[in-house]
Amino acid sequence: MSEASDLEKVFEEKIAAEERIEPKDWMPDAYRKNLIRQMSQHAHSEVIGMQPEGNWLSRAPTLERKQILLAKIQDEAGHGLYLYSATETLGVTRAELNEALHEGRAKYASIFNYPSLTWADIGAIGWLVDGAAIVNQLSLQRNSYGPYARAMVRICKEESFHQRQGYLILVKLCEGSDDQKAMAQDALNRWWWPSLMMFGPHDAESVHSERSTLWKIKRMGNDESRQKFVDQTVAQAEAINLVLPDPDLQWNEERGHYDFGDIDWDEFSRVVSGNGPCNRERLAQHKKAHEEGEWVREAMSAYAERQLGTERE
Ligand code: 3HC
Repeated sequence: MSEASDLEKVFEEKIAAEERIEPKDWMPDAYRKNLIRQMSQHAHSEVIGMQPEGNWLSRAPTLERKQILLAKIQDEAGHGLYLYSATETLGVTRAELNEALHEGRAKYASIFNYPSLTWADIGAIGWLVDGAAIVNQLSLQRNSYGPYARAMVRICKEESFHQRQGYLILVKLCEGSDDQKAMAQDALNRWWWPSLMMFGPHDAESVHSERSTLWKIKRMGNDESRQKFVDQTVAQAEAINLVLPDPDLQWNEERGHYDFGDIDWDEFSRVVSGNGPCNRERLAQHKKAHEEGEWVREAMSAYAERQLGTERE
């Protein structure tokens, strides 16, 4: 047997035995490429996801709400850093990852291309977007690549706070005036379907699901994760008398799940291909911040060089 097939055999035995693949382990190029793709897009999503919430920092209704939102946004930046660092263990640099994003060769989650129009949107983002992210990321804690799985453990702990604080914003609004309740319902109406799109296309249309599942990168299919999110969110909406904007939503005793309406996949494709409400603004802001941060990166690498120099002396 050739050396390469020996290595492949060891890799497959590790995957079958639920052992983690670590950076120094041999891995198929396609496994590495798939991980760089998904992990970097995950990291880009965390960083770009700060924009819709950042727009409300100066307009938070109370100092306490401003502090909570600031803490959440700082967490998201940290999630991006964990994920970029985990991706770099696969032999790619942060600069290359940012270049791929800026040149449109890498994606980020479609959900962040929608505008945050009112304070209630900040509640809907925490409740729904972070709620959906938790469903997806809990299963990613079991993925086969060590650095990615370990990053997920830390991230999931912080996401629970994000989801809770968002839900409590909507609880407060729903206990308020009719206008405040209407603002919460309007936000739910606008964020519900894009949140379901976060889980990706149906498995039958998924480009990567089969391979990613075989390699235990994906531990739950797109449809199974989406269904789990719907099932857990319906009761939360009912508890604050908000109505999910789906006339086809109903409990299916036989399936033991909620049936729900069709997702507008044309909208999904439009947003993923760059023609959503805020795509251009999000990418322009990311590029501007990246350019303005050049001096910080230069200073950090100059400092690191000098430190290395002194250590060698
Ligand atoms: N937005 C943008 N692109 C999407 C997408 C979405 N919601 N769903 C799928 N896609 C893309 C995929 O990236 C793939 O394109 P590519 O080949 O150019 O990468 C294509 O559509 C086909 O989709 P697949 O289902 O075949 O792709 P995956 O197997 O990668 O599954 C996924 C999609 C479930 C999103 C998977 O990539 C994943 O689990 N990613 C990690 C989690 C993540 O990125 N979450 C984003 C939100 S982060 C967040 O919410 C932060 C929170 O703190 C607020």
